[in-house]
Amino acid sequence: MKDLQNKLLFAALEGSRFGICVVDGSGRVLLVNHVFAQKLGLAREDLLGQSYRVLTQCLGHSPHFHSLFECHSADVSSEILCTFADHLQRYMLFRAASLDADMNETFRVISAFDVTDYGQTRDHFVLLQRQIEALQQSVVIVDAKKADMPIAYVNQHFARMTGYSFAETVGRNCRFLQGHDTQQAGVQQLRLAILQRESCRVQLTNYRKDGAMFINDLFVSPVFDEAGELTHYIGVQRELSPAQAVPTS
Ligand SMILES: Cc1cc2nc3c(=O)[nH]c(=O)nc-3n(C[C@H](O)[C@H](O)[C@H](O)COP(=O)(O)O)c2cc1C
Repeated sequence: MKDLQNKLLFAALEGSRFGICVVDGSGRVLLVNHVFAQKLGLAREDLLGQSYRVLTQCLGHSPHFHSLFECHSADVSSEILCTFADHLQRYMLFRAASLDADMNETFRVISAFDVTDYGQTRDHFVLLQRQIEALQQSVVIVDAKKADMPIAYVNQHFARMTGYSFAETVGRNCRFLQGHDTQQAGVQQLRLAILQRESCRVQLTNYRKDGAMFINDLFVSPVFDEAGELTHYIGVQRELSPAQAVPTS
């Protein structure tokens, strides 16, 4: 029975998409699955029975390197950029916790998951968001799949221009900026463009949170996914001085 259990556990360990490694109190690798070794650019034999320090090259630069493998350290959960001999880099999410399996001995169990693709996606997203935040124009993204197209995102310039914070804005339809001025020609033009899933540029009379009126030069464009389905609208707003404003007919 114990044999069968061990075999099953071993098979589960080997079949896992997570890399798993167990070290003893002296930092010696007692158990390691194929994924762990392979993801860190080594053969299992290079690790088994060795000190975890053989991983210095790809992990040694991380401030968490020793605490990942040392039993007396607190639990660790950290994403680390691993660098390999061929200068290739991969993002790995590591988790480590100590285990008192025996009265006298503590073990460290380290799991690793390759999040390189997620990392790159997130990096791109963060970069894009920074660029949108840095714009001197107001940007709004609304969810076209939800009823009444609520705002999903506004950048900081929107808050500066309108006086409404992110929290006061998200979830509402942009028309709240019109106050009682909902019968403007620009609004009707916009409504038609939205119905036809087209982009459109209009000038609207809008109101800030403190009630002050301003002219909003608004460009709205639909966003489609790979399947051609309309998912969002993006709006770019620019405040015009009264002299710049051209009445929309
Ligand atoms: C991406 C996007 C941004 C918008 N931004 C504004 C805005 O800044 N000010 C405004 O008055 N209306 C804005 N609108 C228009 C309103 O949300 C709404 O579409 C318009 O009032 C017409 O619809 P309604 O007749 O249901 O009000 C925006 C619409 C979209 C899709």
